[in-house]
Amino acid sequence: MRILAFETSCDETAVALVRDGRWIESNLIASQVDLHRPFGGIVPEAASRAHLANIVPLLEQSLAAVKQDGRAIDAVAVTHGPGLVGALLVGVNVAKAVAYARGLPLLGLNHLEGHVYANWLVPGHAAPDAASAPIAEPRFPLVCLIVSGAHSDLVLMRGHGDYVRLGRTRDDAAGEAFDKVARMLGLGFPGGPAIQRVAEQGDPTRFPLPRAWLPGSYDFSFSGLKTAVLRLLKQLGPEPPVADVAASFQAALVDVLAAKTARAAAEFGAAQVALAGGVAANLPLRQTVQERVDVEVRLPPVPLCTDNAAMIGAAAYYRWLAGDRADLSLDARPNLPVA
Ligand code: KG4
Ligand code: ZN
Repeated sequence: MRILAFETSCDETAVALVRDGRWIESNLIASQVDLHRPFGGIVPEAASRAHLANIVPLLEQSLAAVKQDGRAIDAVAVTHGPGLVGALLVGVNVAKAVAYARGLPLLGLNHLEGHVYANWLVPGHAAPDAASAPIAEPRFPLVCLIVSGAHSDLVLMRGHGDYVRLGRTRDDAAGEAFDKVARMLGLGFPGGPAIQRVAEQGDPTRFPLPRAWLPGSYDFSFSGLKTAVLRLLKQLGPEPPVADVAASFQAALVDVLAAKTARAAAEFGAAQVALAGGVAANLPLRQTVQERVDVEVRLPPVPLCTDNAAMIGAAAYYRWLAGDRADLSLDARPNLPVA
């Protein structure tokens, strides 16, 4: 079963070919980071235009590869939410056009579910072989921490497509907090990788920043932490110790994410824990979750944490097995929830 998958929900135009939900045959991404960098954040209108310019060349490249060695595509999948509406529309319409022109089944995918299924992908292998066979699929019940630029959700996954949301952010997403604090520190866009890099030289215990524990809840809140960094920077004056501030901020955020994930894993008897979304690329988060969680932690390879279409192709395979099909009325759903 070979799925052609599209992802255009935010600032990456991505097209992938995924076999049986696990094997990446092709994974193309046209990044818009340089386009948005001068603005310090994503400009939705510019993102839509760049998707329009980039998507057909990526599609042609993907199709040329399958045509050359006579492989067949069995279905087309596309992220239809959540995300920026103008950006989503580009992927949705191109996917519909391909499905219609080739008479292929169409599936509409949830971007956040896609992030979770990055954990099913077998990196670096286009087909099952002796070297890759031992990588087992994640096991249920699976506690998933989904942390991206726009979402922070703690989810209990009881089976394929079966989600219970345990908690969510009440204000900023984790990635948004990274991006905003990076901006305050003059570290540029995107903020997460920049903060991680400078924090390596900093002392994470130098400034005790607040943790919003929200007792009795699996929800998160990061706006207080962000404001505390702003206040601290005002106190520190024109030449703050940037590395120490970045490290202290990252430590506070990681502490809360890891603690709540570990508590949820224990309370709900998780067989495994999985990280997902762009912030799952963060090394201290990956390490801290592994230290605090008693069961095995699944970590997508760093390049598969941020937006890509391979993860959409993986999720689509399991949706396909469950009988999900979309038709040409499929539309962008900017606020589609994960559960
Ligand atoms: O999942 P993603 O690529 O896009 C959305 O769906 O939003 O996530 C992007 C977010 C950005 O906020 C970025 O700063 C953050 O992921 N990010 C990181 C790291 N790499 C990307 N945050 C912390 N540490 C990283 N290494
Ligand atoms: Zn994403």
